[in-house]
Amino acid sequence: MKLILLLLTFFLSAQAYAQENTQKQDAAGQQEDHGRQSDGHRHNDGHGHQGKRHGGNHGHDGEGHGHGHGHMLNETQLKQFFEPLPESIIDEQKNAALIKLGKKLYLDPRLSINDRIACNSCHSLSNYGVDNEPTSPGHEGKRGGRNSPTTLNAALHIAQFWDGRAGTVEEQALGPILNPVEMGMPSEDAVVKKLKAIDEYKTSFAEAFSDQKDPLNYKNVGVAIGAFERTLLTPSRFDDFLKGNKDALNESEKRGLKKFVSIGCINCHNGVAIGGNSYRKIGLVVPYETSDMGRFEVTGIESDKKVFKVPGLRNVAQTGPYFHDGSVETLDEAIRLMAKHQLGHDHIGHGMIRDIKAFLGSLTAKEAK
Ligand code: HEC
Ligand code: HEC
Repeated sequence: MKLILLLLTFFLSAQAYAQENTQKQDAAGQQEDHGRQSDGHRHNDGHGHQGKRHGGNHGHDGEGHGHGHGHMLNETQLKQFFEPLPESIIDEQKNAALIKLGKKLYLDPRLSINDRIACNSCHSLSNYGVDNEPTSPGHEGKRGGRNSPTTLNAALHIAQFWDGRAGTVEEQALGPILNPVEMGMPSEDAVVKKLKAIDEYKTSFAEAFSDQKDPLNYKNVGVAIGAFERTLLTPSRFDDFLKGNKDALNESEKRGLKKFVSIGCINCHNGVAIGGNSYRKIGLVVPYETSDMGRFEVTGIESDKKVFKVPGLRNVAQTGPYFHDGSVETLDEAIRLMAKHQLGHDHIGHGMIRDIKAFLGSLTAKEAK
């Protein structure tokens, strides 16, 4: 069995290597080392756009270079890299009671030991799903080691947390309530007991789970919060652009989009969430200093050291500070570090940073959530 796995791994990496070489030739001098990583970490098989992206990569990058700055990527090319947000990923009418309950729970500090911290404390709905802190204070003011990512559009990701250790938003939601640093509840039973003592919840769980005999249980807390989080999609001007409105982006944003594609950000930040669909190493080309081993702590696999879920970039202009530990203060700096450590571009110019930043700004929600 082990031998078969070993052979299979070898075969796959050999293939990946071959593909990488083709990409290298196509990409006309671009740093393309990440091609291998992408194939080595195919956690995103379920997502069609990953496959499409590879198809798209061949040639288009080269084309972009050849034509210079005047030409925009055409619609077919764009669709190989990106997908507009869907209208909805949960039937909001059918699940109205469930979603309403989920929202109530999300906003309720009574889910914490001292009634002071709600999900919303660290993932504020009126602030793009974040608290703009490097790391977040929990019920006792203590902080964990990681930055709070936004809950907006998070349900679209392949998995939850920086290291992907929870599969879904429903599963994820049950973590922070019992986390001693975050909401600090001592046990599942204690949460259920606390909620059962609140009349309002007895009624709303019964309404939300009308087919169940004993609906107020811990798992259903996660089901309800997750259902609510699935409604947190934030259409942006970039979605309008993808759907064909060419005036939705201004000139600098269009230049930024083109640079985002041609320099290679697109290799990791693609698809409907502009990321969120694969795991990659921070410091792929130029080593990056961090003591957080990321996905290695979940899988124990040596090659997963410093591998993180690629963050989705929707609303990223509003969700700083950046990176898993919140150590990067500005978006300019995040772009510069990405170009260096992920792509090997040591000194990208101000124009490059300005335009890419402008493009990223077009991913901000049209109406503030
Ligand atoms: C004290 C601050 C804090 C509280 C309270 C909190 N979170 Fe988080 N949340 C975080 C941090 C920090 C992470 C990242 C942790 C990691 O990746 O290891 C996170 C990660 C997440 C993610 C993953 C997003 C992604 O892109 O991977 C979701 C979804 C989420 N939290 C939802 C919730 C919900 C729902 C609640 C309430 C039940 C909640 N959080 C309570 C700080 C908090
Ligand atoms: C090889 C994959 C890869 C490439 C290429 C890549 N990124 Fe990233 N990006 C990541 C990963 C992984 C992270 C998370 C790093 C961490 O937190 O340690 C990240 C984080 C970011 C962040 C911070 C997001 C947040 O919420 O903290 C921004 C902004 C970003 N990337 C933009 C870019 C831009 C712009 C480019 C092109 C210049 C780019 N990335 C190229 C994988 C990549």
